[in-house]
Amino acid sequence: MAHFPSGFVWGAATASYQIEGAVHEGGRGVSIWDTFAHTPGRIRGGDTGDRACDHCHRFREDVALMKGLGLGAYRFSVAWPRVQPDGRGRTNDAGLSFYDRLVDELLGVDLQPWATLYHWDLPQALEDQGGWLSRDIAHRFEEYAFMVGERLSDRVTGFMTLNEPYIHFLLGYALGNHAPGRTLGLHAFPAAHHQLLGHGLAVRALREAGAHMIGIANNYAPAWPAGDRDEDLDAANRVDAMHNHLFTDPLIRGEYPALALDILQGTDPALLEVIRPGDLSVIAAPLDFLGVNYYQPDYVRADPTGPFGVSLGRIPDREYTAFGWPVVPEGLTQTLTGLKARYGETCPPLYVTESGCSAADVIDVDGRVRDDLRIRYHEAHLEAVRDAITQGAGVRGYFAWSLLDNFEWAEGYSQRFGLVHVDFATQVRTPKDSYRWFQAFLRDQT
Ligand code: FCB
Repeated sequence: MAHFPSGFVWGAATASYQIEGAVHEGGRGVSIWDTFAHTPGRIRGGDTGDRACDHCHRFREDVALMKGLGLGAYRFSVAWPRVQPDGRGRTNDAGLSFYDRLVDELLGVDLQPWATLYHWDLPQALEDQGGWLSRDIAHRFEEYAFMVGERLSDRVTGFMTLNEPYIHFLLGYALGNHAPGRTLGLHAFPAAHHQLLGHGLAVRALREAGAHMIGIANNYAPAWPAGDRDEDLDAANRVDAMHNHLFTDPLIRGEYPALALDILQGTDPALLEVIRPGDLSVIAAPLDFLGVNYYQPDYVRADPTGPFGVSLGRIPDREYTAFGWPVVPEGLTQTLTGLKARYGETCPPLYVTESGCSAADVIDVDGRVRDDLRIRYHEAHLEAVRDAITQGAGVRGYFAWSLLDNFEWAEGYSQRFGLVHVDFATQVRTPKDSYRWFQAFLRDQT
């Protein structure tokens, strides 16, 4: 494979609740994921993140694995309930100190720390006060962002405010498969708007605290019509508006996409009342980069019974991962070049902040994990990034999801995404074949 531009950032990504464990240590408060995972029937196999990858105790070993792979950067998330156990008021120093130690460990071996402030583990106390449905939370998030920024901005390279606000809105508040498990359908829109408002306020707070490289990690999926009927094309446009534009147009253009506003208005005109004068200019605070999390396209069919009048189908003739997600690398090229085409000169530099696949990985008798699908997946998606760069999309980095097998939300430990296998009973880490492949690939880049 040809070389990437010099200075291209190579990393791996994780998230606090998915790897940290130590949920009762260091004064950490309860998060909505603790509550949700301990509610019977919510998570496959009754799994919880109580121990996860025990990363809080093993972060030095994990940083050594990143270094051994040859990475230059690591994207992790800060658990809000570690820093502010109840989501407001005093800082819990023991919690912040953990991230201090992690950041110092990374810098000690020349890895850039990239920190996400919110990867879905909201303090339960804030959920009890309405969670992202309540406007006050945006101000709580601003306060929390300032605390983290003050403590870490002298050493963190890039900050991301939110991880995938669309998925959090959809699965957490509209459909209920994720914490906090609300099933409000499109009446969940306030959770979308307040995340965006919180983002804008957090950008401001982070800058005040001295951060200089600030972005967000959004989930994108090109919307592909499943047929050539007009209804399917319309359905794909609706999904594109809700999934891709609703969480990006306000950031870059300072306005919501008209089609999304129509859909929301058609559901309940009162929904739009949460957008107050001045909000959009806060939300459109200038960004230094845009994080792109990509897994698969939305394959859309018109269906009056589904959310926004659509249902999502299975793309024919594709390889599928253990999760049942199709492998569609050209969807990543389309996403990256599509962002550039839509926002032109105003498009911030792009970083792929997540891309990866799950497989039913096992350790063979010779100690190897032969995850050929993952190798092919990353190879093809890196080629897709290169194509996008050639076509003029300014892409500056790639973070593989994920460094370690981890707690995959509603799927518990059943979906393995890591470059490193984790035995959750013994916490033994075993680099997979994909780790070795990535290592050789990076060696070849220098
Ligand atoms: C993304 C999430 C990440 C992980 C991957 C598989 O939507 O951001 O935490 O679960 O999917």
